[in-house]
Amino acid sequence: MKKILVIHGPNLNLLGKREIDIYGKTGLDEINSSLEKEAGALGVEVDLFQSNHEGEIVQKLQDAKQSGFSAVLINPAAYTHTSVAIRDAISAIEIPAVEVHLSNIYAREEFRHTSLIAPVASGQISGFGPRSYILGLQAAAGLI
Ligand code: DQA
Repeated sequence: MKKILVIHGPNLNLLGKREIDIYGKTGLDEINSSLEKEAGALGVEVDLFQSNHEGEIVQKLQDAKQSGFSAVLINPAAYTHTSVAIRDAISAIEIPAVEVHLSNIYAREEFRHTSLIAPVASGQISGFGPRSYILGLQAAAGLI
C-alpha cells in the first residue's frame, strides 16, 4: 500500500487550545484520526508527524523517499512564511508535496500572504479548517 507522510509544523500540537477563533476547537489528535479514516477510504497509509523544530522537519523530508513514502502532505505552519530550508528540502525530494492550511492565509495579515513553500508544492489548500487536511490527502492520493 502506498504511504503518505503527513507533517504538522510548529504550534499545531496546540490546536484546539490555541487561537480558537482562527483555528477552531478541533485538536490535532482528532485531525489525525480523521486523516487515518480517510486514508483507509482512499486505500493509502498515513504516517503522522508533528514537530516544532525546522531541522527535524527538513530531516523527515530528506528521508521521506528512502523511507518508502510516495507523497507528503504538509502544514508548515509559521515556517510557510520563513523557511527556505523546508522549501529547498521539498524541492529536493522528488516526491510530490501538498501544502495545507487551516486558515485562509491570504485573508490574514500581510506577512502570511507569502508562502515560500507554494512554488515547490504540487498545490495548496488553504482556508477550510480541518477539512483542508482531508482535501489535501485526497489531492496527494490522486498524485501517486
Ligand atoms: C497555518 C497558517 C500559518 O500562517 C500559521 O503560522 C500557522 C497555521 C494554518 O494552518 O492556517 O501556524 O499554517
